[in-house]
Amino acid sequence: GFPSFVKIVEVGPRDGLQNEKAIVPVQTKIEFINKLSEAGLSVIEVTSFVSPKWIPQMADHTEVMTGIKRHPLIYQLVPNVKGFHSLRLLINAKVNEIAIFGAASESFSKKNINCSIEDSLKRFDAVLEEAKKTNTPVRGYVSCVLGCPYEGDIDPEKVAWVSKKMLDMGCYEISLGDTIGVGTPGKMKTLISTVSRDVPIEKLAVHCHDTYGQAIANIFAALQMGISVVDSSVAGLGGCPYAKGASGNVSTEDVVYLMHGLSIKTGVNIQKLIDAVAAVLCENVDFNESICVRFNITY
Ligand code: HMG
Ligand code: MG
Repeated sequence: GFPSFVKIVEVGPRDGLQNEKAIVPVQTKIEFINKLSEAGLSVIEVTSFVSPKWIPQMADHTEVMTGIKRHPLIYQLVPNVKGFHSLRLLINAKVNEIAIFGAASESFSKKNINCSIEDSLKRFDAVLEEAKKTNTPVRGYVSCVLGCPYEGDIDPEKVAWVSKKMLDMGCYEISLGDTIGVGTPGKMKTLISTVSRDVPIEKLAVHCHDTYGQAIANIFAALQMGISVVDSSVAGLGGCPYAKGASGNVSTEDVVYLMHGLSIKTGVNIQKLIDAVAAVLCENVDFNESICVRFNITY
């Protein structure tokens, strides 16, 4: 059967906004994140401590971190020890986590974090060493698990290998990213059965992008395999600047609607999610019109 509760990991403020060209004002981000907390999300990915030359939208990470109410568990992407040091003083162990992000594709690793997979694992190991000193839990992302914009198909064994490495270095959860949204449910099932031989299923999450409208089907397939942690982005915001053509993440409202329809609890209030987008983002930012139109309807 299905799990009775699914943990939704909201990635809109980071994965969603990182792809917006116009810089969203910091006060808008803070209000947006606070509203997402009020909607009942228990985990929110709020920003990333990456190079501002690479991702200008996340340059305000420190202001965001100090401005938001920190009720739910929040976390930030950290690519290296430098990123961890910028963040360290802002860490409150009770509500704070970090995430490292690697890939199952060499070419994507090079484009996204400017190093090979091997080298990235060494950097991550150094970040985990630092994180242990402050008892900061670390989540691990693996990108391109169902396909790569540069290499095409990716061998599930390669995904299992990278995932296991991250688990062994101390990550408490591994999020499997279909970065460009090319997966289909059959491939998702094959992937999860391969990876779960090396990583216990309860430590796996799925992170689907929705390029071909397969994300909800892929998440349903993952649920059937025993997955109970799902990443999503309110309003389906998102994409990846280093994966041309990748569309947004699966939308949180759609995921929550699916779960509630299956009598799976999430703790999330859909109407409040919609208010967070309509009342904060659409009011303050010249945003993608289709998103704002979508959010003027009542569920
Ligand atoms: P690099 O250029 O190879 O780094 O970038 P470097 O160590 O050679 O340093 C170069 C410069 O960057 C130096 O500054 C460093 O100080 C600075 P300079 O001397 O030139 O003035 N620097 C930093 N500045 C701030 N914070 C840092 C930092 N590190 C170095 N942490 C690096 C390597 C990893 C930094 C770079 O490639 C980078 O920032 N990449 C981030 C890319 C990114 O954020 N991508 C999107 C997130 S991943 C994603 O979306 C996928 C996911 O959603 C899952 C899925 O969908 O699959 C997670
Ligand atoms: Mg993503």
